[in-house]
Amino acid sequence: MFGAVAPRYDLLNHLLSASLDRLWRRRAAAAVTPTEGPILDLCCGTGDQAVAIHRRGGEVVAADFCVPMLALAQRKYRKLDRRPPVGLAGDALELPFAGARFAGVTVSFGLRNVTDLDGALAEIQRVLEPGGRAAILEFTVPRNRLLRGIYLFYFRRVLPLVGRLISPSRSAYSYLPESVLEFPQREGFVERMERAGLTGGAWSDLSGGIVALYTAQRAP
Ligand SMILES: C[S@@+](CC[C@H](N)C(=O)[O-])C[C@H]1O[C@@H](n2cnc3c(N)ncnc32)[C@H](O)[C@@H]1O
Repeated sequence: MFGAVAPRYDLLNHLLSASLDRLWRRRAAAAVTPTEGPILDLCCGTGDQAVAIHRRGGEVVAADFCVPMLALAQRKYRKLDRRPPVGLAGDALELPFAGARFAGVTVSFGLRNVTDLDGALAEIQRVLEPGGRAAILEFTVPRNRLLRGIYLFYFRRVLPLVGRLISPSRSAYSYLPESVLEFPQREGFVERMERAGLTGGAWSDLSGGIVALYTAQRAP
């Protein structure tokens, strides 16, 4: 599915979020920088989160198991001025890295798609160095009733329609709302991070609660 959506992925991301995704990514990047050590951007897709970290001076390794997505990320990185992020093929459930290798890990809109959330969180905790920070972005359903109504209408009706018109994959943008509604949110997600051994779990609502930024760290 991700291979099929890759060519139009950036266009749809910016269009469907009215470019708010750039702001969300900057917030996630700020949560793991500055730091001396390398940062892993997991489920990197076309690489925008890694670029946001790179712009804040972070040394980034970007990983994804979808080669067409990675190829687009690599093309983007080649246009950057300083030494670009490294892009690697890697499965979030079996990361090709030694333990305690990274000072930070980010995952933007990726964990919802991994088949085993607890397994992926355990891998994040394993590759983080003691005291290393994790920052995770995910869609959430707003708590405000009015906003929630508008959001659900947009998510269930408008977004799949625009996705079907623009994306080469007809089903991917119908899958998106279902996957968001089924995924643990806010306190529920923080509990899962802590169950995986991460500490100091917290969340903050972004843009009225349509997205949450989750943060935690590996115990020092
Ligand atoms: C919705 S995209 C998000 C991409 C990017 N992080 C962003 O913010 O635009 C989800 C990404 O997760 C990747 N993914 C899903 N399951 C994965 C896994 N088990 N290991 C590595 N990548 C995975 C997909 O290939 C896809 O590129």
